[in-house]
Amino acid sequence: MAEKKRILSGIQPSGAMTLGNYVGALRNWVELQKTDEYECFYMLADMHTITVRQEAKVLRKNALDLLALFIAAGIDPEKSPVFFQSHVPQHAQLSWVLNCNTYMGELSRMTQFKDKCSKHADNINAGLFTYPVLMAADILLYQADLVPVGQDQKQHLELTRDIAKRFNNAYSETFKIPEPYIPKVGARIMSLQEPTQKMSKSDVNENGYILMLDPVDTIVKKIKRAVTDSGAEVCRGEGKEGIENLMSIYSAVTGSSMDEIEREFDGKGYGDFKAAVAEAVVAAIEPIQKKYAELTANRDYLESVYRRGAELAERVAYKTVAKVYRKVGFIQP
Ligand code: TYM
Repeated sequence: MAEKKRILSGIQPSGAMTLGNYVGALRNWVELQKTDEYECFYMLADMHTITVRQEAKVLRKNALDLLALFIAAGIDPEKSPVFFQSHVPQHAQLSWVLNCNTYMGELSRMTQFKDKCSKHADNINAGLFTYPVLMAADILLYQADLVPVGQDQKQHLELTRDIAKRFNNAYSETFKIPEPYIPKVGARIMSLQEPTQKMSKSDVNENGYILMLDPVDTIVKKIKRAVTDSGAEVCRGEGKEGIENLMSIYSAVTGSSMDEIEREFDGKGYGDFKAAVAEAVVAAIEPIQKKYAELTANRDYLESVYRRGAELAERVAYKTVAKVYRKVGFIQP
């Protein structure tokens, strides 16, 4: 039997997860896992999270909560190793070697770096700058074929490919060149209050984002308050960013295409549409919340999941680092 293709992806435990993370990434992880075509590694990117100052106690809680959410959303840890990045030392090891094969110029062009610098002007640390190199290490360690992410990670994926090709050219074939997997709908869920901005948990206006753990009535309220335009038609087009965003969310959680949604709501107003979106989002999130509540009560189980996950991940990561260390000329220990 041919070997399965491999998937690696990660989410940062940098606070509560948003509907954007779910629609743009986690939901697709679950779908890809179901196809049985891939061997999937799913990572909690805790090392990335400390590029922005965290309170240790809060980070620990967010990390375990996110792990529970992964499983509640349908990731099967028996099938796909789920692990904390900080538990697999090879991420930092490979990252160093890749740092020595990445140019300052490339890193200064990363739009997320520029964004974060403007948001965290008092803490523009070196980790924030080299963050995309750590992300490249995450992916290349597992020789991933496919990396399911939202649109905002596309530039980091391109850099990863460039670094991998550069290394392969300099030291002979070492890394697989990964492909991004960016969903057609939902790759960039926008703020409900400012539909030209990405939905993000760092938004100062909490009505701009939906959290996976928001109470159901809050979710309904946030959707009903979502900014739209002065028109009345549920369709895509110039100046319709707010409605189009709600359509993407509806499409992602119901599986209806954008054309089908336009037909379904033809002649109906924004009020009806928002009520339908709210109902569909709640129907998608509520079962996840219920499972999440059961899982967080079972700390032993969560511990067994991340221990096993790290063990399996390290088995693969170890081989890549050994190969890389040999190729760059380090004496074998
Ligand atoms: P993070 O934690 O910011 O986001 C996790 C995933 O959610 C997607 N996403 C969105 N998708 C649609 N609409 C949105 N509004 C939205 N906001 C976020 C992101 O694109 C991402 O797929 N650097 C990564 C984590 C990471 C990683 C990796 C990912 C670390 N190493 C290796 C892939 C492979 C990050 O900060 O994502």
